[in-house]
Amino acid sequence: MKFTLIIKLFFMLMISLKVQANQNVLKSQYKRPDSIPFPSNNQYSSTKAMLGKMLFFDPRLSKDQNLNCSSCHNPSFGWEVPLAKAVGAQAQPLPRHAPTVLNMAWVAPFFWDGRAPTLEDQALGPIESEVEMNLPIDEAIQRLNKIPGYQYWFAKAFPAESINQETILKAIATYERTIVSTQAPFDLWVNGDENAISDSAKNGFDLFNGKARCSTCHTAWNFTDNEFHDIGLLDDKDLGRYALTNQAVNKHAFKTPGLRNISQRAPYMHDGSLASLESVITHYNSGGLPRTSLSPLMSPLSLSTKEKTDLIEFLNTLTGPAMVVSLPVLPQ
Ligand code: HEC
Ligand code: HEC
Repeated sequence: MKFTLIIKLFFMLMISLKVQANQNVLKSQYKRPDSIPFPSNNQYSSTKAMLGKMLFFDPRLSKDQNLNCSSCHNPSFGWEVPLAKAVGAQAQPLPRHAPTVLNMAWVAPFFWDGRAPTLEDQALGPIESEVEMNLPIDEAIQRLNKIPGYQYWFAKAFPAESINQETILKAIATYERTIVSTQAPFDLWVNGDENAISDSAKNGFDLFNGKARCSTCHTAWNFTDNEFHDIGLLDDKDLGRYALTNQAVNKHAFKTPGLRNISQRAPYMHDGSLASLESVITHYNSGGLPRTSLSPLMSPLSLSTKEKTDLIEFLNTLTGPAMVVSLPVLPQ
């Protein structure tokens, strides 16, 4: 009798050690990188990043001088805005929800449908788009050229080059690459602090990687595979990546967003249709709208109430302390 009890305890210990070992292997896949990757054709310099920050926050890059990038990518709301559809120059809701600009150095391609290959290409879109900032780039160049402060800073950041489309976009992209989410409780746990997150969140992490299958698409430290999937949302008008590729598998397919600071980024999805993390989990638990383009990775999950709570507890550990973003002094 006593002997079987000892055997039993031994096996329980082995199983718990195995779970622990599995969790450690999984955790290592989510380790934060030590440095920001910059492309070789647009290397980092602090002057370039500072100039890019001025441009990011400068309303003179919009036709009516009333909108800047942070109008729709606001640091206080996880670098998005708490609206299903942000409003731009034409005072009408944009076709899609504004995504975050956090951790863009680890993302490509850009936009929900991936239509811009690089961050430099992407930045031209919102400046020129009639429904966003509505300023043709040639007018932007003329405007900036009339501002002595900008002439000074462009000359410092790009010696022997002028204020042109390429230098404007390179500066903005460099600043964006420096916008990196802060150390979250999850990172402290990954680095070995067992008290950094709750048991419920730890269980949520196991579900994320196991029963709930979230990690099949939300991979690595920024929690995205940068691929396109139809997760079966109700929106049936926006065909997503299909508009670019004309391939049936891309119907309703949108880019997997990273999940850093996700608790600050409601509402969710390309159409802003899900108001809370609870509704996100309810959606995934249902398996999504069955249609031919639905990702084969989607199916009903049969999560219990406790499991849903644990997943949300886990997602909440991905938000770190607020980033201090001082507004730049705009050149005159
Ligand atoms: C009026 C609101 C608005 C303004 C102003 C705006 N954006 Fe956006 N931004 C959006 C929306 C909406 C999308 C998604 C559009 C889509 O995917 O079709 C987006 C997408 C992006 C993306 C792609 C993110 C990703 O994960 O692919 C980046 C980067 C970005 N914007 C940067 C900027 C920069 C830089 C500026 C200023 C030059 C700017 N935005 C101005 C609304 C705005
Ligand atoms: C088949 C790939 C896939 C799986 C599996 C998956 N996701 Fe997603 N996730 C996506 C895509 C793609 C989007 C964007 C969809 C859209 O807007 O049309 C998304 C969006 C989200 C968003 C909203 C992000 C934002 O910026 O609005 C959250 C939160 C999220 N997923 C969490 C989860 C969780 C939790 C699980 C597991 C229960 C999960 N995902 C499973 C691909 C996936």
